[in-house]
Amino acid sequence: MAQRETWTSRIGFIFAAVGSAVGLGNIWSFPFQTAANGGAAFLVVYLLAVFLIGFPTMMVEFVIGRRGEQNPIASFGKIGYGNWSFTGGLGLFSSLITLSFYSVVGGWVLSYILGSATGAYFGDAGAYFGSVASGPTAIGGHLVFMVLTIGIVASGVTDGIERATKVMIPGVLLLLVALAGWATTLDGAAEGYSYYLSPDFGVIASNFGSIVPPAMGQAFFTLSLGFSVMIAYSSYLGRDDSLPADGGAIVVVNTLIALLAGFVVFPILFATGGAEGAGGGAGTAFVALAGAFGSLPAGGIIGFFFFAVLLFAALSSSISLLEVPVSYVSENYGYKRSTTAVAMGGLIAVIGVPATFGTSWLGFYNDLVFKLLLPISVLLLAVFVGWVADREAVDELGRGSSVGESFTSAWLWWVRLVVPVAVIVTLYLGVEALYTGLASGAYF
Ligand code: PHE
Repeated sequence: MAQRETWTSRIGFIFAAVGSAVGLGNIWSFPFQTAANGGAAFLVVYLLAVFLIGFPTMMVEFVIGRRGEQNPIASFGKIGYGNWSFTGGLGLFSSLITLSFYSVVGGWVLSYILGSATGAYFGDAGAYFGSVASGPTAIGGHLVFMVLTIGIVASGVTDGIERATKVMIPGVLLLLVALAGWATTLDGAAEGYSYYLSPDFGVIASNFGSIVPPAMGQAFFTLSLGFSVMIAYSSYLGRDDSLPADGGAIVVVNTLIALLAGFVVFPILFATGGAEGAGGGAGTAFVALAGAFGSLPAGGIIGFFFFAVLLFAALSSSISLLEVPVSYVSENYGYKRSTTAVAMGGLIAVIGVPATFGTSWLGFYNDLVFKLLLPISVLLLAVFVGWVADREAVDELGRGSSVGESFTSAWLWWVRLVVPVAVIVTLYLGVEALYTGLASGAYF
């Protein structure tokens, strides 16, 4: 068998992993979830979730991936626990489902780039969303987005993924900084910043049950955890890289980009009406932003750049979602990477078609992943590394890094106790919400 590819450099890995992490989650869902869940109150809980639960969980995936040096399913066997490979399989399944609707939203983004250039959404932002979010335009956008994703993954880990993210991520960062600078000039800026940044701890206390699940779900989603993605990416990593240092850099950059997106979105929202109505599901963000771009001076140009950022961010994430099944199928069955990318991408495109019929399917896919699949996956991963895997696997954390024994032990106990408890609470609240939604006919 051909030799397995590895990242060309440590920076190459960090770019690819940041590319996976930074996506629609940061720029589209983070600001709008924050707006819908009380602003700064949500932000505080989200940041705690990212650093206290997300970062240790990322280390769990890195340990499995680098120790296993195989695709996310085979890695479990390689470490000596083949009967846990279903955990990698669950992540793979979540990747399939997620990419199928992620790509539909990616298709909307394509339509909004066009709409910014032609001014098509300037008159009636709501009607424009209706015309592109379902039906033939939605299917077309979804397919184009999948073709772009397949093209990059088919080119390989270094020539495709690494090279693409090295261009896209700096592009996202620069454009977001420019947009945030522009946003300071808007009329609603001061009010927007205050809603975004001054937490009301009373709001957190009285809305704990409704803030925690979306904040935790968002933390896992934005860091690409529970999808086997970070297992796959870290399996291409050299032995002498520091997992905690690389992971820390990834978490920090990802968080900064989400925060920056908030500095763009909140002034826009408050310049044109405030945070009310920001929580109405998948489309509200597009309608609210497009409405704002349609009414602000030079809005078309700003909109064009904003949606271009969103496209880059989405693509650098979608390629990581496709990499999971592609690495598994091509390694396990010996098919060529490019053929596998086309076949798996085609399958995912088909799974995504119902999400082009209307936003309720899309909402269902989304909630299924956020509220059920991700927490279960993270729980299994934490239990596996915390309680099942032997010490040799656990010690992978410190290899190639300067962190000592005590860091590894503290992390291990955190993964044994704190992560599972937090995730079980989230899972309970999330399943309850999912059940209520299904029973009340909120989806179908
Ligand atoms: N982290 C990406 C985002 O925030 C989504 C994603 C999840 C990408 C899982 C890959 C894997 O948009």
